[in-house]
Order: sequence, then C-alpha cells, then structure tokens
Amino acid sequence: MKIKEYISKEKIEKKIEELAIQISNDYKGKDINIICVLKGSAIFTVELALKIKENVKLDFIEVSSYSGTKSTGKIKLNKDITSSITGKDVLIVEDIIDTGITLSYLKDYLLKKNPKSLKICTLVDKKEKRKENVDVDYVGFTIEDKFIVGFGLDYNEDYRNLPYIGVME
Ligand code: IMP
Ligand code: MG
Repeated sequence: MKIKEYISKEKIEKKIEELAIQISNDYKGKDINIICVLKGSAIFTVELALKIKENVKLDFIEVSSYSGTKSTGKIKLNKDITSSITGKDVLIVEDIIDTGITLSYLKDYLLKKNPKSLKICTLVDKKEKRKENVDVDYVGFTIEDKFIVGFGLDYNEDYRNLPYIGVME
C-alpha cells in the first residue's frame, strides 16, 4: 500500500496552534473537560491539550464503527468515560467526522449525563459524506472524500504514528 503525503506535519502543527488559541479564548477562566475519542484522536488530543492555556481535564471514550475503509453504521461503545461530566464544560475531541454517525451517537450519549456545555472539535471534516447532521464548533481541515491515515488515523490499526496525514493509494 502506497501512502502519499496530503497534509504536512508543519501544517497540522500550525492548525492545532490556531485551534488552541480559539479554544483558550472561548473557555477563559473555565476548566475544559476534554473527552478524547479513542483511538484515532489520541495524538491530536495530546498536541491540542499541550497548547491550550486554560486548565484541561482529560477523559477517554472508545467507540467503533469502522471495518477497513468503510463505516458499518453501527456504533459500539467499547470504553466509557470514568469521570462525572454533570454540570461541566465538555469538549469532545475527534480525529475525523465522516458520516457523522459516531459523533451524533456520542453527543446524544454524553448529553444524557447533563454537562453544562458540550462542544465538538475535530481535526478533519469530510463534509461530503455527512448522513447525520452535527454542529461542529472547531474544525481543523475540511477535506474531500478521501481515506486518510496518520497523525492518529488508522487503516485497520496501522499507520497511526505517521507524523503527517497521508492518502492511501
Ligand atoms: P463517522 O461515524 O462516519 O463520522 O466516522 C467517524 C470515524 O470513522 C472516525 O472517528 C474514524 O475513526 C473513522 N474514519 C472515518 N474516515 C476515516 C479516514 O479517512 N481515515 C481513518 N479513519 C476514518
Ligand atoms: Mg475516531
């Protein structure tokens, strides 16, 4: 399998810096309860959290819906968060939004726990493929319908540690 660079390491770094500034300004004086959606957004979450100026609390949730390059459309909750988010300002951090099925599931699921606020940040948005309408508050890159890997994103669990985002050819 050949992988062609699509978004460089430098571009990703600069974009994360911009997102962190925006988030820090929007949450001035507040604790930000980040929920990292495993496994894909692990690397993005770390890089983003390190650049945010306000206090960050971290929790992790894991859901799966993909097999190879296709979404199965059925969401499975593999790991739940372990802290209480009731009355808290929550920010879901995702690697990529494709059909939107995962995020709309996660949003509904987390809203039931009554957070004070719930926002969404994604590194990549594949707008064209949207099936479920979800409002995204912070978007890094909007891309065409391509299957990408790297910077946390995988193809059957491989390529997550590429420092850039690449396209599979
Ligand atoms: P959705 O439910 O269709 O929005 O899919 C979201 C999830 O599918 C993401 O959190 C990723 O784990 C995975 N995914 C979607 N597109 C890609 C891609 O291009 N590369 C790697 N994973 C992807
Ligand atoms: Mg993901």
